[in-house]
Amino acid sequence: MSLSGIALVTGGAGFVGSHLTSALLASGARVRVIDNLSTGYQENLDEIDGDIDFVNASINDQKSLTRALEDVRVDLSRSRDSLASPRSVKFAS
Ligand SMILES: NC(=O)c1ccc[n+]([C@@H]2O[C@H](COP(=O)([O-])OP(=O)(O)OC[C@H]3O[C@@H](n4cnc5c(N)ncnc54)[C@H](O)[C@@H]3O)[C@@H](O)[C@H]2O)c1
Repeated sequence: MSLSGIALVTGGAGFVGSHLTSALLASGARVRVIDNLSTGYQENLDEIDGDIDFVNASINDQKSLTRALEDVRVDLSRSRDSLASPRSVKFAS
């Protein structure tokens, strides 16, 4: 599997989101996080701080969300033959 484009992780400063953010970075994606730090912590991202784009805002704020979504695109490229259950995946033509 390869990743290209910018991936947006909502709630990326939280427990699950910060691990997802690290995993996406390790997979080669560029990652942007939008988080209002209501229950998450900036420190959760300290180790990867320089590698991500962090937007301190709520996803409920339309203006911030629109900005965060700019250029967001993730391609999950994976050989169809390698899928364990190809019939469960719908491919766009
Ligand atoms: N060490 C551990 O095992 C450990 C530690 C922490 C949590 N947990 C578990 O993990 C689960 C919780 O983790 P989680 O990642 O789902 O929750 P979380 O609260 O850690 O993450 C949610 C994130 O979403 C953000 N957020 C909330 N509303 C938002 C909004 N409107 N706009 C933008 N960002 C917003 C929060 O600030 C936070 O960073 C629980 O089951 C908890 O028990 C385990």
